[in-house]
Amino acid sequence: MSVQAVNLIYIISAALFIFGLKQLGSPATAVRGNMLSAIAMVIAIVVTLFNEQIGDYKWIILGCLIGGGVGAVAAKKVEMTSMPEMVALFNGSGGIASLLVGWAALYDLSGGPISGFTAFTIFLSVLIGGMTFSGSLLAYGKLSEKIDSAAKVFNAQRLVNGAILATIVLAGIMFCFNPSTTSFAFILIIVLSLVFGVMAVLPIGGADMPVVISLLNSYSGLAACAAGFAIDNNILIVAGSLVGASGIILTNIMCKAMNRSLANVLFSGFGATKTATKVEGEVKPIVGEDAYLILEAASSVTFVPGYGMAVAQAQHVVRELGELLEGNGCEVTYAIHPVAGRMPGHMNVLLAEANVPYDQLIEMDDINPRMESVDVAVVIGANDVVNPAAREDENSPIYGMPIIDVDKAQTVFVLKRSMGSGFSGVDNPLFFGDNTRMLFGDAKESISGIVAEFKN
Ligand code: TAP
Repeated sequence: MSVQAVNLIYIISAALFIFGLKQLGSPATAVRGNMLSAIAMVIAIVVTLFNEQIGDYKWIILGCLIGGGVGAVAAKKVEMTSMPEMVALFNGSGGIASLLVGWAALYDLSGGPISGFTAFTIFLSVLIGGMTFSGSLLAYGKLSEKIDSAAKVFNAQRLVNGAILATIVLAGIMFCFNPSTTSFAFILIIVLSLVFGVMAVLPIGGADMPVVISLLNSYSGLAACAAGFAIDNNILIVAGSLVGASGIILTNIMCKAMNRSLANVLFSGFGATKTATKVEGEVKPIVGEDAYLILEAASSVTFVPGYGMAVAQAQHVVRELGELLEGNGCEVTYAIHPVAGRMPGHMNVLLAEANVPYDQLIEMDDINPRMESVDVAVVIGANDVVNPAAREDENSPIYGMPIIDVDKAQTVFVLKRSMGSGFSGVDNPLFFGDNTRMLFGDAKESISGIVAEFKN
């Protein structure tokens, strides 16, 4: 196939990627958008395989079978609650792939000398790819709690990171002047990029982990983009830029949702310097039957889902309770915090899966001003995102993070299994509030109990 024909089809793929991304912006069109982007990727891959320089397909077929097989099984088996870990691994795979593509580009098939520009793009794809790979593996370990997820900060951290970065830049300059796979500079770039990835993720932990995942996602795109330049492949450049740009936009949205600057997230270490004020008080438990009586009399109820709803898989019974309440003449809404759960859009996905009408989903900034008029706020396995300490306790590690102001509702039910803290490990004064009632137990069982009361 001629280069012009390939590039023309690449343009079609790129357009489909952009339409697909646009459709991912709303839960109603997200599935279609995902499918569109997947089709665009298949088109891009198939067209690339028509490259006349490919003489032997056996390694490509083997790679597709192994990679496709592992990806399909992993996607099928992964629990919804483990999605962030899976995304971390995918980012890491993207990173190492770019590193290897950059490396392979050094063996220029044309046999001619490698230009300074190509050497520079190889350097970038190896550097960004390598740090994305090791950083993502560390992020995976932290998210899956296979290793301590806390932020690790030590005294000379910035100095050490600065020294590593300076050495990488120096090695990069040496490599660009003399690009070769066997040069000491090239080996040094690979090793230090892997070390730098670990050093970059070490000081990030706790409630900041969502930001690092989207940032690594962005890095994996930038690495792919650099690899695209290194092997002169236009669709890799476009796809890499799209991932890089969307990742950085998402990172920015999340930083805003936590009221933090990116620099603060990256360098200051979540909770490393602050200790929240100890919370004490009287807890007022409630049982399902009493919760039912209060809900039955309520004229407005707002559900506030969090990570615990995903763990309990309570979304279907929550929707059922919502419908029963509506049938009872109550106004029902669902308040969505941008970082509730463990991945961006986590709650939207779960509620969409349970067929909760989109118009009942209200974003944090829209629900907060009307929270005082809500009769009952039902917190389902959410903790950090409803913690008033973020508003009131300057010593709290989550101080400044916007929250859903459930404590301002007339009555608050908090559904969880214990008095345990959330992802950030910070105590929650909401549990001791005068208007708070704790409904202890698995969220699905608690809600099912209330549903049963309604049906009786
Ligand atoms: P969390 O603060 O993590 O709290 C979840 C609560 O759910 C826990 O306190 C837990 O209490 C309860 N729970 C667990 N299993 C349950 C079950 N079966 N039934 C009932 N309750 C259950 O969740 P959140 O409020 O959604 O906040 C999200 C946190 O994760 C934030 O700190 C955020 O920064 C961070 N994070 C977010 C993301 C994204 S992008 N969304 C990604 C990574 C991290 P018990 O153990 O007492 O039941």
